[in-house]
Amino acid sequence: MDILTARGLVMTYGSTRALDGVDVTVRAGESVAVMGPSGSGKTTLLHVLAGVLRPTSGTVDLAGTDLVALSDAQRTRLRRDDFGFVFQSGQLLAELPADENAALPLLLAGRPRAAATARARELLARLGLAGMERRRPGELSGGQAQRVAIARALVGSPSVVFADEPTGALDQATGREVLDLLTSAARAGGAALVVVTHDPGVARWCDRTLAMRDGRVVGEFRAPAPQHQVPLP
Ligand SMILES: Nc1ncnc2c1ncn2[C@@H]1O[C@H](COP(=O)(O)OP(=O)(O)OP(=O)(O)O)[C@@H](O)[C@H]1O
Ligand SMILES: [Mg+2]
Repeated sequence: MDILTARGLVMTYGSTRALDGVDVTVRAGESVAVMGPSGSGKTTLLHVLAGVLRPTSGTVDLAGTDLVALSDAQRTRLRRDDFGFVFQSGQLLAELPADENAALPLLLAGRPRAAATARARELLARLGLAGMERRRPGELSGGQAQRVAIARALVGSPSVVFADEPTGALDQATGREVLDLLTSAARAGGAALVVVTHDPGVARWCDRTLAMRDGRVVGEFRAPAPQHQVPLP
């Protein structure tokens, strides 16, 4: 089943065509890597697919709803309820412990504190952070902090998780570990994943890789069924 279908996406900034006619389909539960040189439009594409940016033209259909036609308030609500986000770094609140950081989307949506943090702690444990739930971001390694960010992205059981270079601030080995956990956790939660990465090894973890250049999708690689899938502990 297709969950997200974008057609004819164009995004212009003055004379720059950040997106120059992009068609993308994301199926429920699949993982899609987006690769390409700096400035090729990867972040812009992610933001348009996620309803953060409204494209100059084109449509983005999420299970029957055109995101482009929604009001800002409607898109904000939809982002909160249907999507999860992981950024490069720095998205955790320094003064909150890991469990409250991970529970934040549920707390903002008005869920009772006890239930929200319990759900967050369950995810943190599955991501290998049992015992670290009360640590603040400053007391975690970069890789551990990104796992908290992954827990936060998944805590609301989103249909799609968007990640923009989620391992960009980590060394390659830690980055791959985090990418591995991100793809496994998204699969386990039934969420589709769209991940921008510079790591060419990523095809190992994703079902498909899209190659971007100059605002266009210029290639698509379908990875063989991943043999390397570490089940969540
Ligand atoms: N808010 C903006 N205003 C003007 N131009 C922009 C804006 N955002 C992006 N651009 C331009 O659009 C193009 C695509 O940018 P984008 O950030 O999507 O690239 P990217 O592939 O994510 O690059 P990187 O790998 O460096 O993150 C670039 O030429 C960029 O300068
Ligand atoms: Mg970018």
